[in-house]
Amino acid sequence: MSFDLLRRAGSVLNTHYQIISSEVVFGYPNIGEEYPDQWRRLLLPLSNQSLWQIFGESNLLSIEGSLLCSHLKLWGGLEDQLSSVYPQPDWLASDNLHRPKYSLDALVGVGDKKLHELTKVAPLVEALAHHQGRSKPLKVLDIGGGVGHLARLLTFYHGVTVTSFDRDQRLQQKGASQIKRHLANQEGSCCPLEWEHGQWGDGGDQKQLLSNKTLLVGLHACGNLSAQLIEAGVRNAVPAIISLGCCYARFTGTGRHYLSQAGQSLSSTQRIEWNQFSLTLSSRAHRPPSFAAFERDLLVKSYRYKLHLLLFHLLDTKKFVAVGEVRPHHYQGEFFNYTLGRLAHLKIKHQLGKDQIDDFVQQQWVEDRVRELIICDLIRWQLGRVAEIFLLLDRALFLEEQGYRVTVLPLFDPRISPRNLGIVAYRGDRSD
Ligand SMILES: C[S@@+](CC[C@H](N)C(=O)[O-])C[C@H]1O[C@@H](n2cnc3c(N)ncnc32)[C@H](O)[C@@H]1O
Repeated sequence: MSFDLLRRAGSVLNTHYQIISSEVVFGYPNIGEEYPDQWRRLLLPLSNQSLWQIFGESNLLSIEGSLLCSHLKLWGGLEDQLSSVYPQPDWLASDNLHRPKYSLDALVGVGDKKLHELTKVAPLVEALAHHQGRSKPLKVLDIGGGVGHLARLLTFYHGVTVTSFDRDQRLQQKGASQIKRHLANQEGSCCPLEWEHGQWGDGGDQKQLLSNKTLLVGLHACGNLSAQLIEAGVRNAVPAIISLGCCYARFTGTGRHYLSQAGQSLSSTQRIEWNQFSLTLSSRAHRPPSFAAFERDLLVKSYRYKLHLLLFHLLDTKKFVAVGEVRPHHYQGEFFNYTLGRLAHLKIKHQLGKDQIDDFVQQQWVEDRVRELIICDLIRWQLGRVAEIFLLLDRALFLEEQGYRVTVLPLFDPRISPRNLGIVAYRGDRSD
């Protein structure tokens, strides 16, 4: 069943390969046939509020019956099918997990998003480490553990011993001193927490850290790291793995995108040749938290696209230029200020003044073209989740091929933490 879903996701991505493998604005002044006129005509008259309903809330009523609507249903449906391919085992049900109340001292430096993630992941790690039938809990090895938020909660509240591994020793020192300062006098028992420092994945596994008692965890281990930790876990026959990936575009090297035999056996119409654009797309948040955040995204896009048009039409820059990011408040200010700042940053010589810039962007045809680019980008954005599901299914299948029981499930509210799909793999004596 999981292979079927991988194949279906692969077919969707292949059908729309032109969309996922390039940015909308690259072909400007053309917008390719991959975004059919029919789709654009359907969406162009819609207000931001209506676009939010379609793309932010998956409410497709206003475009029901259209071809685009069937595509969006098909793409969104792949995520829904994950839960039938990987039904949630009972022991993972929320009611069966231990959810202690953490003290404020234990949450020093933890923002709202991280708090949400930790309160979901830590009880899950405890359940997997302690499950019935195991005389001693598994020891957690948290790869890319950073400042050690997860390690801190696991050792203080969940009765789990942790080694927190990261290449950034300064983060680890900060985490260790936070514990000393805030939790030194904490009452009750605390399991050992060790800090290991190094680059995971280069020059072989850190074998000495892996054993048949290890529960390997990677919470938002970016780029190669999440694939590398899964491979190392399998090579060293660890009994359990929890992996949440992120920043897929930080993959380096080739061959890391297909860990499974199943993935490698895909036909050419289901296999994806990944590039930086499709990987970046798979890392994009697929659910803005609110209409206000959605409108902010649209505003950022409109500034960027207007600048692209200005470069093309006023400054004769016919080749695509990456205009880069600026701090959010710059998108709230006047467009000409943003433009002058970006042109200076990009070291592009020009004689443009405020009036000329304003006159250019206030033209109706500029507004229309920018809106069209934004609409195509919204459609492209919907394929990001399909791309992410495809990447994760391959990893899940690899683990299944290696004899693990696997489940892939949303661990976080996607509006709070959009990289929310976790792979939970275990072998041994769990009976469910
Ligand atoms: C996105 S952060 C996640 C931190 C933490 N797990 C969390 O969720 O708060 C990724 C962490 O992985 C670490 N990292 C990335 N690649 C690494 C590697 N190859 N070896 C060790 N650590 C690595 C980074 O230093 C960073 O702390």
